[in-house]
Amino acid sequence: MSVLNKHAVLERHSILLTVAILIAVAIGGIVELVPNFYLKSTIEEVEGMRPYTPLELAGRNVYIREGCYTCHSQQIRTLRDEVERYGHYSLAAESMYDHPFQWGSKRTGPDLARVGGKYSDDWHRDHLIDPRSVVPASIMPAYPFLAEKELDLRLVASDLKANAAIGVPYDDQMIENARADLLAQLDPFSAGADGLRERYGDVAMRDFDGDPSRATELDALIAYLQMLGTLVDFSLYDNQADVNLR
Ligand code: HEC
Repeated sequence: MSVLNKHAVLERHSILLTVAILIAVAIGGIVELVPNFYLKSTIEEVEGMRPYTPLELAGRNVYIREGCYTCHSQQIRTLRDEVERYGHYSLAAESMYDHPFQWGSKRTGPDLARVGGKYSDDWHRDHLIDPRSVVPASIMPAYPFLAEKELDLRLVASDLKANAAIGVPYDDQMIENARADLLAQLDPFSAGADGLRERYGDVAMRDFDGDPSRATELDALIAYLQMLGTLVDFSLYDNQADVNLR
């Protein structure tokens, strides 16, 4: 019996054929997918990436809650016009601590992957409270309530814990001090400032919303926006980017 004849058996039994197809596809799928979970190169290590501080993480939560991702992407593609407008194209490693990632799929407003440091805190405050006050033709909604709403500090530690459970390297110290670290980032002269620096490195510490008496959601959101795209020092990689683009 030749191989072709054996195949005739498969072709005459639809269930057998279905099972055989499933096995063939499963083998193909395993061969393609499984190595990605083990290869170190799936996400290359990039110098500068660190887990978000508790304040930045709280700001990220506000960003998600308010649906900023429905109008803003955080993903600069490897196309010349994008790189000239927004800066170095996004690296996979830059989203490695994002659960879920905020790449977005629509740009009603500009990409925000590298918005950190582009504007002053005051500009962000004015813009979020009333976008038309700084960009007259803006169609972005206003979020004045963020300046009034105090941050809910009860869930900060559990938030870090949840992120740690899915692989973000928050250690016990970070989780234990989450609340103190959040408040310390709003006041560089506070007692907790050194602890924050020890745990997260050189992070931006200041009152972000212009009201030092309270920790508001606006504080957190601006801290998050000012950090976006600033963690990796791209002067280390720039020559390579030039080669890729030309
Ligand atoms: C309905 C769509 C929409 C939503 C929702 C939205 N934005 Fe915008 N955003 C825009 C548009 C349009 C612009 C460009 C005009 C301007 O600067 O206001 C913009 C501009 C910006 C800029 C300035 C970017 C730059 O590089 O100039 C920032 C920062 C920003 N938005 C943050 C946010 C945040 C944070 C949220 C959520 C709280 C948000 N946006 C929600 C539409 C939106």
